[in-house]
Amino acid sequence: EATATQAPQPRKLAVPDAQTVTEVKHFTDRLFSFRCTRPASMRFRSGEFVMIGLMAINEKTGKEKPLLRAYSIASPSWDEELEFYSIKVQDGPLTSRLQHIEVGDQIILRPKPVGTLVHDALLPGKRIWLFATGTGFAPFASLLREPQTYEDYDEVIITHTCREVGELTYGRDLIEALKTDELLNEVIGEGFWKKIKYYPTTTREESPKMGRITDLMRKGEAFKDLGVPVINQESDRAMVCGNLAFNLEIKEMLEEYGLEEGANSDPKHYVVEKAFLD
Ligand code: A2P
Repeated sequence: EATATQAPQPRKLAVPDAQTVTEVKHFTDRLFSFRCTRPASMRFRSGEFVMIGLMAINEKTGKEKPLLRAYSIASPSWDEELEFYSIKVQDGPLTSRLQHIEVGDQIILRPKPVGTLVHDALLPGKRIWLFATGTGFAPFASLLREPQTYEDYDEVIITHTCREVGELTYGRDLIEALKTDELLNEVIGEGFWKKIKYYPTTTREESPKMGRITDLMRKGEAFKDLGVPVINQESDRAMVCGNLAFNLEIKEMLEEYGLEEGANSDPKHYVVEKAFLD
């Protein structure tokens, strides 16, 4: 029989651009993070995104093909592994399955990083604002672990607006861990983390600071709490990553403060990217 002479195909070869999952952490019923191996030749700039996914059966053709989505890389460019921070959507095409990955499983990763939330797209400034909602924290998890962020700016302000308190955990743990980050303490100097101002807010569950960051800025409350002047073109730079409505609203506010949108080829005062929502 023909099949008797065929060697079994190693499972690995069925998946193009396969990487192996090395860690999975679940935060809430809506959020999880995971780490995987990094292709040896893959370079990226902190803040960029890649396409990742799983093999899926195409319902029309019945054939297996890659189902991919754009994910911000949450780990810094120097890390030997890659980290991702993801939403879990129960009927989401990708995340309904991706949320069940375990250590040792394989995912697909196309090693072609791109994106606008990079230092190259901003002109020099005194203070950088990182504005996130929900899983929009991911690219900032990369940038907050990137030495250049502290080399380029005197002050780093990270705001994170979520519906519920539990959704702040990933970001809060990451910022707490910076205090003992060996590389950053060595490269930037001990106590570098004092440059960071963390401003978490919630909108649908009680917490010390409630409200959307946009409203808190309009009222002047956010600037007062942080002890900084209102955003201005001379000293402030900003990166934005959140849901669509948030991105549009804060973009309009930043323009009113006098900031202009930059790009890789034309660095200016702020940059924006959409958070992944399956
Ligand atoms: P809210 O609860 O008032 O809608 P989501 O989980 O829907 O992506 O939202 C994440 C966070 O972003 C929520 O706290 C939500 O607040 C907030 N948000 C949604 N739209 C805006 C907006 N236009 N400006 C500021 N924050 C927003």
